[in-house]
Amino acid sequence: MKIALIPGDGIGPDIIEEAVKVIHAIGEKKQISLEFNTYLVGGSAIDHTGTPLPEDTLKGCKESDAVLLGAVGGPKWDTLPGHLRPERGLLGLRKEMTLFANLRPAILFPQLKSASTLKEEIIGAGIDIMVVRELTGGIYFGERGRVEETRSAYDIETYSEDEIERIVRIGFEIAKKRKKKLTSIDKANVLETSRLWREVAERVAKEYPEIELQHMYVDNCAMQLIRNPHQFDVMVTSNMFGDILSDEASMLTGSLGMLPSASLSSGKLGMYEPIHGSAPDIAGQDIANPIATILSAAMMFRYSFEMEAEAVMIEQAVANVLEDGYRTKDIMEKDMKLVGTKEMGNLIAEQI
Ligand code: NAI
Ligand code: MG
Repeated sequence: MKIALIPGDGIGPDIIEEAVKVIHAIGEKKQISLEFNTYLVGGSAIDHTGTPLPEDTLKGCKESDAVLLGAVGGPKWDTLPGHLRPERGLLGLRKEMTLFANLRPAILFPQLKSASTLKEEIIGAGIDIMVVRELTGGIYFGERGRVEETRSAYDIETYSEDEIERIVRIGFEIAKKRKKKLTSIDKANVLETSRLWREVAERVAKEYPEIELQHMYVDNCAMQLIRNPHQFDVMVTSNMFGDILSDEASMLTGSLGMLPSASLSSGKLGMYEPIHGSAPDIAGQDIANPIATILSAAMMFRYSFEMEAEAVMIEQAVANVLEDGYRTKDIMEKDMKLVGTKEMGNLIAEQI
């Protein structure tokens, strides 16, 4: 397995190092041959090469089986013009690799219940929702502009049947491996793109008779997520709705440092990264929580390598370490054992 590593900026290098430890532990245990290549994107790339997305990074990523990324950006590069900013590197990479499906699990480990803003009786045994967001189409990529005469502005949402079909299909495939329940989120009472979205979802559903498909309006969904999150398992939705709902869902868990993500294309190549940013305020201090990145590595085994047992092994190792009472500073509670970034990585690797 050829893995492209992009540590990036801020805490990126701190957390990637720990994820690599855990991947190595799996490699040793399961006799998997692993090749790591490190590339630059974002601020560190700007400093070394003058551009946020160097050519050899793009080439190296495309030739790999998976990309594992830390985070990019920081105040140091804030004054640069738009096309030279660190985020450009990340957006460019997603676009060039046609990563059209963004998977954002909202997982609340039962050991961290009190981090959530929800009441205990609503959380129950924990939360586990998968949001599948379309990432390369819709209003964020549509025509936009200003009309001087009318003193107005516009953004246009367009979705083709093909774009809808490929993302909805990913939703069904994931639902198949989970609780066989898929909720498609739209605004079909108002938007034409949403009515097309429903038609396509219904058509694809015929190929998945074992999956229960439910449609829900986005505004209702925003309420239902807080009222009763357990009614959801896999949700699939458009770019903008997914942006908002995935942030909402992830915060039900209350711990930014714990949440992974995957961005997939139609092949096996995917990019895996924590949902948090580069946290420049705590970079290089051995206090960042590496778990979001380690769980991203688990997703890499699941979706790019199709090694479910290895993915579960990593997730179980994380749960065991939490169960043993170890916590990084961001998730620290009374009577628990405070550990740094490196020790947390070591503990999880040792579990494996
Ligand atoms: P952030 O997610 O980096 O940090 C928000 C807060 O959460 C900070 O107090 C930080 O210390 C804490 N935090 C984040 N990750 C943590 C972890 N693993 N362990 C412990 N604490 C953690 O978001 P912020 O401050 O808005 O952005 C900082 C920089 O990151 C900016 O330059 C931003 O553009 C960039 N960013 C990059 C992203 C990416 O690479 N995908 C995503 C979001 C922001
Ligand atoms: Mg967002």
